[in-house]
Amino acid sequence: MKISPEQKQELEDIYQSFLHDEKIMRMKEVPMHRGSNCYEHCFKVAKLAIKRALRHKKASLEVVLLASILHDYYLYDWRKDRKLLKHHGKVHPKLAAENAYRDFGVSPTIQNAIKSHMWPLNFKDFPKSKEARILTWADKAICIREALTSKKHKQKSRNRYLAHINKLFDK
Ligand SMILES: [Fe+2]
Ligand SMILES: [Fe+2]
Repeated sequence: MKISPEQKQELEDIYQSFLHDEKIMRMKEVPMHRGSNCYEHCFKVAKLAIKRALRHKKASLEVVLLASILHDYYLYDWRKDRKLLKHHGKVHPKLAAENAYRDFGVSPTIQNAIKSHMWPLNFKDFPKSKEARILTWADKAICIREALTSKKHKQKSRNRYLAHINKLFDK
């Protein structure tokens, strides 16, 4: 799909407002795979999801963007509590959707996309919309990349990723 410079700027503005939002920054305290944190992870997913969505004719870019940024907005460290550790995979999408609604008033379409991002683990929560399927795919792709990052290259690639997430569109 072709988008105008104005549309591009609009998406970039939304991305930047979330990137610098104090509530969103709390995700920096939530650790993720291999030294990454929730904040970096979500913006990496958002960038990849938008790239993918631009190849689809009818996907709503704003839905993809917001659902991606907020898909892991659950705000707790599941490694610190055995009970959370056991159920985290299944429970966190619903919590993230609730938090996203509470703090940003996101639409039901966005909430549903967030809720289904762990499919097929949460088998009943099938990603019904095109936007939800894009998010599910992008999240898995980034998780695999993060998991495959060797410890040796961790810091190096983290610095690269930090520069990478500064902007939604690279050029
Ligand atoms: Fe997740
Ligand atoms: Fe994720």
